[in-house]
Amino acid sequence: MTTNEFNPEQYKAATQQRWQEMAPRWHKWSPFLSELNRDLTNQMLEMAGIRAGFRVLDIAAGDGDMSIIAAHRVGPDGYVLATDISSNLLAYAASAAGEAGLAHLETRVMDGENLELEDNSFDAVICRSGLMLMPDPKTAMAEIYRVLRLGGRLSAFVSSTPDKNPWFGLSVGILRKHAQLPPAPPGSPGTFSLGAPGVFEGIFHEAGFQRVVTHYVSGSFPLSSAAECVEFLKDIGLNSMLASLSEDKQQQAWAEVEQALSQLEGPDGFVSPVEGIIGAGLKSN
Ligand SMILES: C[S@@+](CC[C@H](N)C(=O)[O-])C[C@H]1O[C@@H](n2cnc3c(N)ncnc32)[C@H](O)[C@@H]1O
Repeated sequence: MTTNEFNPEQYKAATQQRWQEMAPRWHKWSPFLSELNRDLTNQMLEMAGIRAGFRVLDIAAGDGDMSIIAAHRVGPDGYVLATDISSNLLAYAASAAGEAGLAHLETRVMDGENLELEDNSFDAVICRSGLMLMPDPKTAMAEIYRVLRLGGRLSAFVSSTPDKNPWFGLSVGILRKHAQLPPAPPGSPGTFSLGAPGVFEGIFHEAGFQRVVTHYVSGSFPLSSAAECVEFLKDIGLNSMLASLSEDKQQQAWAEVEQALSQLEGPDGFVSPVEGIIGAGLKSN
């Protein structure tokens, strides 16, 4: 593969392998991420219109934080299917559901672009921080539309732009420079791939959704220090960007990241702004 060619199948296989390997490290941060995302999650559940008795599909559910909250909301007469490309992450979701006595939550390994599910079979679909990582989000949106019943809603969340999320945007820029990685080709998947103005809203319309609403949500990303942010970035897989470098060079790259992130340190520790977009739409024909 040359630097400018993008192979979606290879990308997806590599994504799956990466999430499988880093599942325990991702899960370690689950309490922090759950708290960080609490308001966002509630807004998303509201925008999807989720209530008691609903059948809900969570796509790219990870370790199931949002699926569990949805399962409490739909109650025992409802049903939640947590799906993800990583079985290791879903194992955490299944175990949390078991501990909470949520027998109406199931997990299934599934690619968000290829939902092995019946047409018109869910009342609501949710997807938090997943669509932007898929090579073909338009196909994922078409699949979501297909499995929703008439009157069902999707609510999804993606990050906006690197400048509005410096804890990640700044760091990726530095790591990319050290690893001499070329800029990602336009349209390729990644944290900010659906974040430019109008792009996220556009894929809702293209899939056929109606009454589409999108709005920006901003907040802060608080950790104890820039060093802790570096630890988080390593745990969520950014180390892989430096795989071609020697140990020394990797350390130099991370030192520069930490130095750059220290500008976000203050009396209350480390605080980065964060911004993303919630989108919701209705299947009405
Ligand atoms: C940033 S995490 C978000 C997890 C969860 N939704 C949350 O908000 O905590 C992204 C998730 O997308 C999953 N993922 C990536 N590509 C996928 C695909 N093609 N189909 C399904 N899941 C995918 C990863 O395995 C990972 O669990």
